[in-house]
Amino acid sequence: MKNTFDAFASEIIANPYPALARLRAADPVSWNEPLKGWLLTTYDDVKAAQKDSRFSAERVKPFTMHMAATKRPELERMGTLLNHWLLFRDPPAHTPLRRLLIDAFTPRAINALRPRIGEIVEELLDPLSDRNQFDMISDFAFPMPATVIAHILGVPSSDVPKFRTWSNDLATVIGNSRQVPDRFERGARALFTLTDYFRTTVSHRRNARTKGVLVDDLIAAQESGGPMSEEELVASCILILFAGHETTMNLIGNATLLLFKNPDQWALLRNDPNLISSMVEEVLRYECAAFVIVRVANEDIEIGGKRISKGDRVFLMLGAANRDPIHFDDPERFDILRKPNRHLSFGFGIHFCIGAQLARVEAEVAFKHLLPLMKDFEPVSDDFDWDDNFVLRGVKSLLLQRRAVAAA
Ligand code: HEM
Repeated sequence: MKNTFDAFASEIIANPYPALARLRAADPVSWNEPLKGWLLTTYDDVKAAQKDSRFSAERVKPFTMHMAATKRPELERMGTLLNHWLLFRDPPAHTPLRRLLIDAFTPRAINALRPRIGEIVEELLDPLSDRNQFDMISDFAFPMPATVIAHILGVPSSDVPKFRTWSNDLATVIGNSRQVPDRFERGARALFTLTDYFRTTVSHRRNARTKGVLVDDLIAAQESGGPMSEEELVASCILILFAGHETTMNLIGNATLLLFKNPDQWALLRNDPNLISSMVEEVLRYECAAFVIVRVANEDIEIGGKRISKGDRVFLMLGAANRDPIHFDDPERFDILRKPNRHLSFGFGIHFCIGAQLARVEAEVAFKHLLPLMKDFEPVSDDFDWDDNFVLRGVKSLLLQRRAVAAA
């Protein structure tokens, strides 16, 4: 069958949904030659694969082995460092690493952070209210979650601007940027820099015997004979920093964009700010910030009449699953009142997003403060430049200008 999903085409980067809908209807388990892997596009298949231990999360190992064979030591080293991320581990290694982190992200722990999140939001928005133009991404959607995650980890917020370059570069590999030719080199450099940064942070806090932030808890757990090695400790800090803001930045950017594109939904929200959390869920479903998750077949697997061979990569297309008409009425409609809304945007099963509650609270607090400001602004252009990142879906920038006449 003709492949109808060219992930590298500009029109797909701008709007992947019509092609994914065709694929889901005609060939829901399809081999994709440019991506060299299988695409799963129905809700049921995408969900089931996340519960199925025949699909392994250990997708860095094949990369590391390949890089060793090509004798590219710096890329092999990058693979070795990434291999310590619990995101890329199966049980039994995954289980204790996850257990050490989840306490910092329980609903209770996150609710206790609300006042600090509110302060961070206000500090960032205050200077914007006097401006005639600002970039929602670089002036707010990036620094807000990055500052929150710096606070959780215990690194200075003055370092946040540095995280932007490092994360952008790392994202070209983790998220698979489609049009960046030197992405492996850039990603490797960023990962080495972040590793040095967190090694220094860990060593400093260990010597100073500090207490109170996530890094201190991880050090204490390690010193009391816990299962986390030094490399895994440093890797977990990098994972939390990276996962903790790239996706939330896109959630806030995508929400802003969708509200401007759907004035009826925007009006509903302005009239009833209690709808913010339901709006956030619909943004997550409709334009999900983590668009794809990847697995590798541990054995030969038969699914939807297709045979996936051991070692094949499988792309679980969350963005397609979230618009599956079997599970969502009128799925192409952006509807902030949608109920139920059982999207898969935070994944499912043992790798379910640790930061889901944090992301939800950040977006909720952000939009409580953004709503009054946004009514005076509008996008400078209707032409949005989507990032070419296959996994992390968001726009590169979102310039807003003050309206000539303020909206009611
Ligand atoms: C809109 C925001 C977010 C989205 C859409 C998102 C999405 C996801 C998804 C889909 C997964 C599963 C990946 C897989 O199974 O391969 C995941 C895992 C993860 N997320 Fe998030 N995430 C978001 C925010 C955050 C935040 C704020 C944190 C901060 C702590 C975070 C930390 C993690 C971690 C550590 C994992 C790995 C969990 C594991 O492997 O057990 N995420 N996220």
